[in-house]
Amino acid sequence: MSTAFGIRESVSSPQVNARRPLQVNHEGGVAGAARPPRHRFARLIVRRVVIPLASLALVGCETQRMTSATDPAAPKDTPERTASAGELGATASTTRATGTTLGGPLAGLDAGQLARFEAGRAEFMEVDGVREGLGPVFNDASCVTCHNAPVGGTTGRVETRFGLLAGGQFDALERFGGSLLQDRAVGEVAAGAGTFTYVPEVVPIAANVRAGRVTTPLFGLGLVDAVPDRTFQLLARLEAFYSPATAGRPNVVSEIRTGVTRVGRFGWKAQEPTLHQFAGEALLNEMGVTNPEFPEENCPNGDCSKLAFNPVPAMNDDGTSVERSTDFMTLLGPPPRKGSSYLSVYGELVFASAGCANCHTPALVTGPNGNPALSNKVFFPYSDFLLHDMGALGDGIAQGRAGPNEMRTTPLWGLTAHSTFLHDGRAKSIDEAIRAHGGQGAISRSRYGRMDFFSRAALQAFLRSL
Ligand code: HEC
Ligand code: HEC
Repeated sequence: MSTAFGIRESVSSPQVNARRPLQVNHEGGVAGAARPPRHRFARLIVRRVVIPLASLALVGCETQRMTSATDPAAPKDTPERTASAGELGATASTTRATGTTLGGPLAGLDAGQLARFEAGRAEFMEVDGVREGLGPVFNDASCVTCHNAPVGGTTGRVETRFGLLAGGQFDALERFGGSLLQDRAVGEVAAGAGTFTYVPEVVPIAANVRAGRVTTPLFGLGLVDAVPDRTFQLLARLEAFYSPATAGRPNVVSEIRTGVTRVGRFGWKAQEPTLHQFAGEALLNEMGVTNPEFPEENCPNGDCSKLAFNPVPAMNDDGTSVERSTDFMTLLGPPPRKGSSYLSVYGELVFASAGCANCHTPALVTGPNGNPALSNKVFFPYSDFLLHDMGALGDGIAQGRAGPNEMRTTPLWGLTAHSTFLHDGRAKSIDEAIRAHGGQGAISRSRYGRMDFFSRAALQAFLRSL
């Protein structure tokens, strides 16, 4: 019972501290059992009535304090709001998307879809060699090397982007192999009568920006793929109306398959519009495997003459690998939500009143989809997938419409599945990650800084429950 109500986590609260002996006895089990029934009844009343009421009162004070008129960005008469699932397309027939286990498929797939999930998972785990087209320069030989723990997640592998930022203009230094660095190479290959040695790329001297990019987990992204572009455009408009100081904007990118301009939503800069396109892009840029939408091999550090020694110059993948890994990612379920505790329920209110939900949008809704498991579903990523100016936290790299300071709001579901946070992994705790928010995130950061210890603990308990 104590876990169900989150009492164990709330020992820092003054009210709960007063009852601490009760709780400790209960957790120990023995002392609790020896007590007469009257005491057990009293304990029940404290847990179910006194603590909830006292904490609700606290929430009220906290909410009022956080949106008080002393905060210029949140005048009392224009309270911030978060777009609701209803506004984003949920109707009476919308149902909730569910996963199975972390790393498992979406719930409710039929046998054919499960077979596609498994075949896609096998492809995602396949280790490519030089004969399959790996390299000449690459970052790793398999998707799972970086997206693992469990398969589809993240090992925390950090890769490097570089460029030249001068007078506000970003140059990706493509002539030197930018902006993504390939930090491995296939080494020695046969070249005519002799050999040629491919070496890993290095950051060129011309670069004045060097940014780390952590591998992101892929759980639940099939749902994000299934959200119509117009929903993100609408969400940007609603944010501009409800919470202008923190409003985001969509990245706008080209979908290679159709030639259509789309809303980007994948990657730290929302630089890719679909899982399919990201799979092709990753196959080329992470592994050096050319494929129909990405047919040009990367020139090592920009020197295309070196491609003369490419051991497998023909198209490396006919599109089959791209399709299969897309299947895996599309059908990969969202992280299962942990049970909510009393503390985390309180934390959710703190989350909203600190303005976190302005960008970390709780609920999104998919459009009609050929796959019933993805069609008209509401899901809870805690992200708007839009770009926000994060001030000094930005990584200095521009991609698509995303400027150097702009970053995509990171989804907060499954937060406990990894141990480093933010785009370059600089934060080792959730607390550090929040305190690093700058630019449009600065208001939330200072609200967090002003919170009492109990509210902060509740907020973190909530984040860990997602
Ligand atoms: C060397 C490590 C590495 C390998 C190998 C790798 N990835 Fe990634 N992946 C990353 C990193 C780093 C990011 C974040 C990229 C960015 O936005 O700059 C990422 C992001 C992604 C995303 C975007 C997810 C999101 O949060 O929006 C998808 C999809 C993806 N990878 C799929 C794949 C697939 C499919 C493969 C295999 C073909 C693959 N990756 C191989 C490191 C890797
Ligand atoms: C203005 C929009 C905005 C607001 C408001 C905001 N965030 Fe964020 N948040 C972001 C963006 C963008 C990132 C990614 C930044 C980066 O990595 O460079 C992020 C990253 C995070 C991360 C790191 C996640 C990870 O896996 O790396 C956490 C945790 C987080 N935010 C929590 C919060 C909390 C809690 C609040 C409220 C106190 C909040 N955020 C308010 C936009 C926002």
